[in-house]
Amino acid sequence: MVDDFVLSPTLDAEINEATKLLLLASQVVALTGAGLSVESGIPPFRGPGGLWTKYGEPPMDGYQRFLADPAQAWRERLNPTATWAKGLHETLGQAKPNIGHDAMAALEKIGVLTATITQNVDDLHRQAGSQSLLEIHGNHAMLRCMECQQRYEPDEIEIDPKALPPLCTSCGGILKGDTVQFGEPIPPDVLRGCYSAVEGCDCMLVVGTSATVYPAAEFPLEVLRRGGCLIEVNPYESELTPVATVSLRGPGGAILERLLHHARARQPYEATG
Ligand code: APR
Repeated sequence: MVDDFVLSPTLDAEINEATKLLLLASQVVALTGAGLSVESGIPPFRGPGGLWTKYGEPPMDGYQRFLADPAQAWRERLNPTATWAKGLHETLGQAKPNIGHDAMAALEKIGVLTATITQNVDDLHRQAGSQSLLEIHGNHAMLRCMECQQRYEPDEIEIDPKALPPLCTSCGGILKGDTVQFGEPIPPDVLRGCYSAVEGCDCMLVVGTSATVYPAAEFPLEVLRRGGCLIEVNPYESELTPVATVSLRGPGGAILERLLHHARARQPYEATG
């Protein structure tokens, strides 16, 4: 879909209309999913070309197994066995932001986008320069203390394979990967941030998500319930398509770039974002 995509004048007119909704809103919050990173070479989970479409769903008991035996879970983390898990880990490490991530960081810089909630753990929004960013499913490159929620960059903690699991230097709690596993509670500090962003939001820009995993999938519905508008960017239909105010049918990169173009054209900004 992405390689042979051509932006038609009709779609560009729809993007222009969607830009007006963004500029009329008082607080635009974005919700992004795996589809936004497809153009960075990271496959989605579901739908065409999805990891789980290809390999089937992974075991959903990772968090329970971590709780049962953190040391063993760390040994598996340090030596992943599943082929697709190894492949994804390498892909995540090499991926770079695409024009969609860059456009969203620029939309934030010129004051159109207030905050971005991402379900992606690939760190690409941060690398693209998004500042007001809520990583609701964590960040694959970080570690997190299960007690005090302290985050650690990889080089801040020495992982000794003979002394697993690594412990928090602040409170002595057990450290785990920051990626939120199925069945694991969303870290309370991030969840509070998401609810606060959604509370003030009157226009949600949803990019590249099947909108099937909660609580993130609830956020667009909450905005609609309060009379806000919902702009969806997705090359395929999703759970949100029937309720979206505007559905922009195409890949995130090309569409977000045009949204930025129309936003800049409508409101010249001092900032050169
Ligand atoms: N641009 C935009 N969207 C795209 C593109 C693209 N180039 N390619 C695919 N998509 C869309 C698909 O149509 C699909 O709707 O991206 C969506 C990806 O859906 P999922 O793979 O389900 O990813 P996501 O919605 O982020 O999953 C939510 O589920 O697997 C868990 O924790 C994981 O954060 C993830 C959560």
